[in-house]
Amino acid sequence: MILFSFVIVYIVSLTSATTDRSSKVLIDVQEDRLVFGETVELVCHLQGSLNLEDGSSRQWSGGAFNKVLSLNGYSSDISKYQEVIKTNTEFRLRVLNFNESDANQYYKCVYGFKYNETKLDLTKKLYEYIPGESEIDTRFIVNNESEIVTTYVRFQKMYPEPQCVVYADKSSVNMTIESKRTIGLFLNVSLNSEIKTAECCGREITMICSVGTRVIVRRTMEIPECDDRNELVKLPEITFGTGVQNKTQV
Ligand SMILES: *[C@@H]1O[C@H](CO)[C@@H](O)[C@H](O)[C@H]1NC(C)=O
Ligand SMILES: *[C@@H]1O[C@H](CO)[C@@H](O)[C@H](O)[C@H]1NC(C)=O
Ligand SMILES: *[C@@H]1O[C@H](CO)[C@@H](O)[C@H](O)[C@H]1NC(C)=O
Ligand SMILES: *[C@@H]1O[C@H](CO)[C@@H](O)[C@H](O)[C@H]1NC(C)=O
Ligand SMILES: *[C@@H]1O[C@H](CO)[C@@H](O)[C@H](O)[C@H]1NC(C)=O
Ligand SMILES: *[C@@H]1O[C@H](CO)[C@@H](O)[C@H](O)[C@H]1NC(C)=O
Repeated sequence: MILFSFVIVYIVSLTSATTDRSSKVLIDVQEDRLVFGETVELVCHLQGSLNLEDGSSRQWSGGAFNKVLSLNGYSSDISKYQEVIKTNTEFRLRVLNFNESDANQYYKCVYGFKYNETKLDLTKKLYEYIPGESEIDTRFIVNNESEIVTTYVRFQKMYPEPQCVVYADKSSVNMTIESKRTIGLFLNVSLNSEIKTAECCGREITMICSVGTRVIVRRTMEIPECDDRNELVKLPEITFGTGVQNKTQV
Protein backbone atom coordinates (compact mmCIF):
# COMPACT_ATOMS: atom_id res chain seq x y z
CA MET A 1 0.00 0.00 0.00
CA ILE A 2 2.77 2.42 0.98
CA LEU A 3 4.74 1.39 -2.07
CA PHE A 4 1.66 1.85 -4.28
CA SER A 5 1.04 5.48 -3.15
CA PHE A 6 4.73 6.23 -3.50
CA VAL A 7 4.55 5.16 -7.14
CA ILE A 8 1.44 7.31 -7.74
CA VAL A 9 3.04 10.38 -6.15
CA TYR A 10 6.18 9.77 -8.15
CA ILE A 11 4.28 9.60 -11.45
CA VAL A 12 2.18 12.70 -10.66
CA SER A 13 5.18 14.81 -9.69
CA LEU A 14 7.10 13.60 -12.73
CA THR A 15 4.37 14.68 -15.19
CA SER A 16 3.76 18.06 -13.54
CA ALA A 17 7.51 18.68 -13.47
CA THR A 18 7.68 18.13 -17.24
CA THR A 19 4.83 20.56 -17.99
CA ASP A 20 6.28 23.10 -15.51
CA ARG A 21 9.54 23.11 -17.33
CA SER A 22 8.03 23.67 -20.77
CA SER A 23 5.29 26.11 -19.78
CA LYS A 24 6.59 29.23 -18.18
CA VAL A 25 6.52 32.96 -18.87
CA LEU A 26 9.52 35.08 -19.75
CA ILE A 27 9.53 38.80 -19.18
CA ASP A 28 11.48 41.35 -21.19
CA VAL A 29 11.70 45.08 -21.79
CA GLN A 30 11.18 46.00 -25.44
CA GLU A 31 13.40 49.10 -25.49
CA ASP A 32 17.19 49.01 -25.35
CA ARG A 33 17.07 52.49 -23.86
CA LEU A 34 14.42 53.84 -21.54
CA VAL A 35 13.53 57.36 -22.60
CA PHE A 36 11.90 59.62 -20.03
CA GLY A 37 8.61 61.02 -21.29
CA GLU A 38 8.19 58.24 -23.86
CA THR A 39 6.57 54.80 -23.75
CA VAL A 40 8.29 51.79 -22.21
CA GLU A 41 6.91 48.42 -23.22
CA LEU A 42 7.18 45.28 -21.10
CA VAL A 43 6.68 41.95 -22.86
CA CYS A 44 5.43 38.75 -21.28
CA HIS A 45 6.21 35.74 -23.50
CA LEU A 46 4.25 32.52 -23.05
CA GLN A 47 6.45 29.44 -23.36
CA GLY A 48 5.75 25.78 -24.08
CA SER A 49 2.10 24.79 -24.21
CA LEU A 50 0.84 28.16 -22.93
CA ASN A 51 -1.25 30.14 -25.39
CA LEU A 52 -3.55 33.14 -25.01
CA GLU A 53 -6.37 31.00 -26.47
CA ASP A 54 -6.28 29.05 -23.17
CA GLY A 55 -8.33 31.97 -21.85
CA SER A 56 -6.39 32.13 -18.59
CA SER A 57 -6.36 35.48 -16.88
CA ARG A 58 -3.68 38.04 -17.71
CA GLN A 59 -2.43 40.49 -15.16
CA TRP A 60 0.26 43.13 -14.85
CA SER A 61 1.18 44.49 -11.44
CA GLY A 62 3.95 46.43 -9.75
CA GLY A 63 5.11 49.98 -10.32
CA ALA A 64 5.62 52.64 -7.68
CA PHE A 65 2.70 51.47 -5.50
CA ASN A 66 3.00 47.74 -6.27
CA LYS A 67 -0.62 47.43 -7.33
CA VAL A 68 -2.56 45.84 -10.20
CA LEU A 69 -1.88 47.87 -13.34
CA SER A 70 -3.91 45.88 -15.84
CA LEU A 71 -6.23 42.89 -15.55
CA ASN A 72 -7.42 41.08 -18.71
CA GLY A 73 -6.95 44.28 -20.66
CA TYR A 74 -8.66 46.55 -18.13
CA SER A 75 -6.22 49.26 -17.09
CA SER A 76 -6.12 50.76 -13.61
CA ASP A 77 -5.17 54.06 -15.26
CA ILE A 78 -5.74 54.23 -19.01
CA SER A 79 -3.54 57.34 -19.37
CA LYS A 80 -0.60 55.43 -17.87
CA TYR A 81 -0.94 51.68 -18.54
CA GLN A 82 -2.21 49.96 -21.66
CA GLU A 83 -2.18 46.29 -22.51
CA VAL A 84 -1.26 45.35 -26.08
CA ILE A 85 -1.69 41.92 -27.66
CA LYS A 86 0.01 41.23 -30.98
CA THR A 87 0.30 37.44 -31.10
CA ASN A 88 -1.10 34.43 -29.24
CA THR A 89 2.05 33.87 -27.28
CA GLU A 90 2.71 37.23 -25.70
CA PHE A 91 0.99 40.15 -24.05
CA ARG A 92 2.50 43.53 -23.38
CA LEU A 93 2.16 46.42 -20.98
CA ARG A 94 2.80 49.89 -22.31
CA VAL A 95 3.89 52.31 -19.60
CA LEU A 96 3.15 55.74 -21.06
CA ASN A 97 5.11 58.89 -20.30
CA PHE A 98 7.85 57.02 -18.43
CA ASN A 99 8.95 59.06 -15.42
CA GLU A 100 10.99 58.91 -12.23
CA SER A 101 8.19 57.21 -10.31
CA ASP A 102 8.20 54.35 -12.85
CA ALA A 103 11.96 53.87 -12.76
CA ASN A 104 13.67 51.32 -10.52
CA GLN A 105 10.36 49.55 -9.80
CA TYR A 106 9.38 45.91 -10.22
CA TYR A 107 6.84 44.85 -12.86
CA LYS A 108 5.20 41.45 -12.79
CA CYS A 109 3.16 39.64 -15.39
CA VAL A 110 0.86 36.77 -14.47
CA TYR A 111 -0.71 34.30 -16.86
CA GLY A 112 -2.96 31.77 -15.13
CA PHE A 113 -0.71 30.28 -12.44
CA LYS A 114 2.54 31.34 -14.07
CA TYR A 115 4.31 34.59 -13.43
CA ASN A 116 7.60 36.38 -13.84
CA GLU A 117 8.89 39.80 -12.91
CA THR A 118 11.58 42.29 -13.84
CA LYS A 119 12.96 45.51 -12.44
CA LEU A 120 13.38 48.62 -14.58
CA ASP A 121 16.78 49.07 -13.01
CA LEU A 122 18.43 52.25 -14.25
CA THR A 123 21.77 51.25 -12.80
CA LYS A 124 21.75 48.39 -15.32
CA LYS A 125 19.73 49.74 -18.24
CA LEU A 126 20.58 52.60 -20.59
CA TYR A 127 18.33 55.60 -20.23
CA GLU A 128 17.91 59.09 -21.64
CA TYR A 129 16.39 62.30 -20.44
CA ILE A 130 16.11 64.73 -23.34
CA PRO A 131 15.88 68.26 -21.94
CA GLY A 132 12.99 70.55 -22.90
CA GLU A 133 13.52 74.08 -24.28
CA SER A 134 13.16 75.60 -20.82
CA GLU A 135 15.97 73.38 -19.53
CA ILE A 136 18.47 74.58 -22.16
CA ASP A 137 20.37 77.87 -22.14
CA THR A 138 22.71 78.71 -25.03
CA ARG A 139 24.96 81.73 -25.50
CA PHE A 140 27.33 83.09 -28.10
CA ILE A 141 29.60 85.79 -26.68
CA VAL A 142 31.68 87.83 -29.11
CA ASN A 143 34.63 89.54 -27.46
CA ASN A 144 35.94 92.25 -29.79
CA GLU A 145 39.11 92.83 -27.82
CA SER A 146 40.35 89.29 -27.46
CA GLU A 147 38.75 88.41 -30.81
CA ILE A 148 37.26 85.28 -29.42
CA VAL A 149 33.78 83.91 -29.74
CA THR A 150 32.79 81.88 -26.73
CA THR A 151 29.98 79.41 -27.19
CA TYR A 152 28.22 78.17 -24.10
CA VAL A 153 25.39 75.80 -23.35
CA ARG A 154 23.84 74.64 -20.08
CA PHE A 155 21.44 71.74 -19.64
CA GLN A 156 19.67 72.07 -16.30
CA LYS A 157 18.57 68.45 -16.52
CA MET A 158 19.61 65.77 -18.96
CA TYR A 159 21.10 62.29 -19.32
CA PRO A 160 23.54 61.06 -20.52
CA GLU A 161 26.32 63.57 -21.17
CA PRO A 162 25.85 65.26 -24.57
CA GLN A 163 28.35 65.67 -27.42
CA CYS A 164 28.46 69.28 -28.59
CA VAL A 165 30.30 70.56 -31.66
CA VAL A 166 30.63 74.10 -33.01
CA TYR A 167 30.88 74.35 -36.78
CA ALA A 168 32.52 77.48 -38.19
CA ASP A 169 32.92 77.53 -41.93
CA LYS A 170 35.25 74.63 -42.65
CA SER A 171 36.42 73.90 -39.14
CA SER A 172 34.71 72.36 -36.17
CA VAL A 173 35.49 72.36 -32.48
CA ASN A 174 34.30 69.93 -29.86
CA MET A 175 32.87 71.73 -26.86
CA THR A 176 34.28 70.67 -23.52
CA ILE A 177 32.49 70.08 -20.26
CA GLU A 178 32.79 73.12 -18.02
CA SER A 179 30.78 71.82 -15.09
CA LYS A 180 28.82 68.69 -14.35
CA ARG A 181 26.71 67.80 -11.34
CA THR A 182 24.58 64.77 -10.68
CA ILE A 183 21.02 65.45 -9.54
CA GLY A 184 19.32 62.16 -8.79
CA LEU A 185 19.23 60.16 -12.03
CA PHE A 186 20.19 63.18 -14.15
CA LEU A 187 22.98 65.63 -14.85
CA ASN A 188 23.16 69.41 -14.66
CA VAL A 189 25.91 70.08 -17.17
CA SER A 190 27.44 72.98 -19.06
CA LEU A 191 29.86 73.02 -21.98
CA ASN A 192 31.84 75.70 -23.73
CA SER A 193 34.36 76.35 -26.46
CA GLU A 194 36.33 79.26 -27.82
CA ILE A 195 36.84 80.14 -31.46
CA LYS A 196 39.00 82.94 -32.84
CA THR A 197 36.81 85.47 -34.64
CA ALA A 198 39.34 85.43 -37.49
CA GLU A 199 37.97 82.01 -38.33
CA CYS A 200 34.37 83.04 -38.38
CA CYS A 201 33.69 86.76 -38.63
CA GLY A 202 31.06 87.62 -41.17
CA ARG A 203 30.01 84.00 -41.18
CA GLU A 204 27.60 81.82 -39.32
CA ILE A 205 28.62 79.47 -36.59
CA THR A 206 26.40 76.62 -35.53
CA MET A 207 26.31 74.74 -32.28
CA ILE A 208 24.95 71.22 -32.42
CA CYS A 209 24.52 69.02 -29.37
CA SER A 210 23.43 65.42 -29.57
CA VAL A 211 22.84 62.34 -27.48
CA GLY A 212 23.64 59.29 -29.57
CA THR A 213 22.15 60.07 -32.98
CA ARG A 214 19.48 62.41 -31.62
CA VAL A 215 20.13 66.14 -32.08
CA ILE A 216 18.91 67.99 -29.00
CA VAL A 217 20.20 71.49 -29.74
CA ARG A 218 20.93 73.32 -32.98
CA ARG A 219 21.64 77.05 -32.72
CA THR A 220 23.16 79.35 -35.31
CA MET A 221 24.65 82.80 -34.85
CA GLU A 222 25.93 85.25 -37.42
CA ILE A 223 29.29 86.62 -36.30
CA PRO A 224 29.72 90.33 -37.19
CA GLU A 225 32.14 91.40 -39.92
CA CYS A 226 35.74 91.83 -38.89
CA ASP A 227 36.18 95.31 -40.43
CA ASP A 228 36.86 96.88 -37.07
CA ARG A 229 39.95 94.74 -36.70
CA ASN A 230 41.88 97.32 -38.71
CA GLU A 231 41.04 99.92 -36.13
CA LEU A 232 42.45 97.91 -33.29
CA VAL A 233 45.26 99.37 -31.22
CA LYS A 234 48.68 98.91 -32.76
CA LEU A 235 51.65 98.57 -30.50
CA PRO A 236 55.22 98.81 -31.81
CA GLU A 237 56.36 95.56 -33.44
CA ILE A 238 53.19 93.74 -32.49
CA THR A 239 49.97 93.94 -34.39
CA PHE A 240 46.83 92.54 -32.91
CA GLY A 241 44.09 91.43 -35.06
CA THR A 242 45.69 90.38 -38.31
CA GLY A 243 45.27 86.79 -37.35
CA VAL A 244 48.71 86.00 -38.74
CA GLN A 245 50.99 86.89 -35.88
CA ASN A 246 54.27 86.02 -37.60
CA LYS A 247 53.92 88.77 -40.20
CA THR A 248 55.35 91.25 -37.71
CA GLN A 249 58.44 89.18 -37.14
CA VAL A 250 59.58 89.45 -40.74
C1 LIG B 1 11.73 35.11 -16.11
O1 LIG B 1 12.11 35.77 -17.31
C2 LIG B 1 13.49 35.79 -17.51
C3 LIG B 1 13.79 36.69 -18.69
O2 LIG B 1 13.05 36.35 -19.84
C4 LIG B 1 14.00 34.36 -17.68
O3 LIG B 1 15.40 34.37 -17.88
C5 LIG B 1 13.65 33.56 -16.43
O4 LIG B 1 14.00 32.21 -16.62
C6 LIG B 1 12.17 33.65 -16.13
N1 LIG B 1 11.92 33.05 -14.82
C7 LIG B 1 10.97 32.14 -14.64
C8 LIG B 1 10.79 31.66 -13.24
O5 LIG B 1 10.27 31.72 -15.54
C1 LIG C 1 4.93 60.13 -12.82
O1 LIG C 1 3.67 60.03 -13.45
C2 LIG C 1 2.61 59.68 -12.56
C3 LIG C 1 1.37 59.44 -13.39
O2 LIG C 1 1.17 60.44 -14.35
C4 LIG C 1 2.43 60.80 -11.53
O3 LIG C 1 1.42 60.45 -10.63
C5 LIG C 1 3.75 60.97 -10.77
O4 LIG C 1 3.65 62.06 -9.87
C6 LIG C 1 4.89 61.22 -11.74
N1 LIG C 1 6.14 61.22 -10.99
C7 LIG C 1 7.06 62.18 -11.11
C8 LIG C 1 8.29 62.01 -10.28
O5 LIG C 1 6.92 63.14 -11.87
C1 LIG D 1 31.93 94.21 -31.50
O1 LIG D 1 32.01 94.52 -32.89
C2 LIG D 1 30.78 94.42 -33.60
C3 LIG D 1 31.04 94.64 -35.07
O2 LIG D 1 31.79 95.80 -35.29
C4 LIG D 1 29.77 95.43 -33.01
O3 LIG D 1 28.54 95.29 -33.67
C5 LIG D 1 29.60 95.12 -31.54
O4 LIG D 1 28.74 96.10 -30.93
C6 LIG D 1 30.95 95.14 -30.80
N1 LIG D 1 30.73 94.68 -29.44
C7 LIG D 1 31.23 95.33 -28.40
C8 LIG D 1 30.94 94.74 -27.05
O5 LIG D 1 31.91 96.32 -28.52
C1 LIG E 1 22.48 73.77 -12.47
O1 LIG E 1 23.73 74.30 -12.08
C2 LIG E 1 23.77 75.73 -12.13
C3 LIG E 1 25.20 76.17 -11.80
O2 LIG E 1 25.70 75.51 -10.69
C4 LIG E 1 22.76 76.29 -11.13
O3 LIG E 1 22.75 77.71 -11.21
C5 LIG E 1 21.37 75.78 -11.50
O4 LIG E 1 20.43 76.22 -10.55
C6 LIG E 1 21.39 74.25 -11.54
N1 LIG E 1 20.09 73.78 -11.99
C7 LIG E 1 19.38 72.86 -11.35
C8 LIG E 1 18.08 72.48 -11.96
O5 LIG E 1 19.78 72.34 -10.32
C1 LIG F 1 35.37 65.34 -31.28
O1 LIG F 1 34.51 64.36 -30.73
C2 LIG F 1 34.33 63.24 -31.56
C3 LIG F 1 33.29 62.35 -30.92
O2 LIG F 1 33.57 62.10 -29.57
C4 LIG F 1 35.68 62.53 -31.74
O3 LIG F 1 35.50 61.41 -32.58
C5 LIG F 1 36.67 63.50 -32.34
O4 LIG F 1 37.94 62.88 -32.43
C6 LIG F 1 36.76 64.76 -31.51
N1 LIG F 1 37.60 65.74 -32.18
C7 LIG F 1 38.56 66.41 -31.56
C8 LIG F 1 39.32 67.38 -32.40
O5 LIG F 1 38.80 66.25 -30.37
C1 LIG G 1 55.02 81.67 -35.97
O1 LIG G 1 56.07 81.87 -35.04
C2 LIG G 1 56.18 80.84 -34.09
C3 LIG G 1 57.23 81.25 -33.06
O2 LIG G 1 58.28 81.96 -33.66
C4 LIG G 1 56.54 79.55 -34.82
O3 LIG G 1 56.68 78.48 -33.91
C5 LIG G 1 55.48 79.23 -35.83
O4 LIG G 1 55.81 78.08 -36.57
C6 LIG G 1 55.24 80.39 -36.77
N1 LIG G 1 54.10 80.14 -37.60
C7 LIG G 1 54.07 80.38 -38.90
C8 LIG G 1 52.75 80.14 -39.59
O5 LIG G 1 55.04 80.83 -39.50
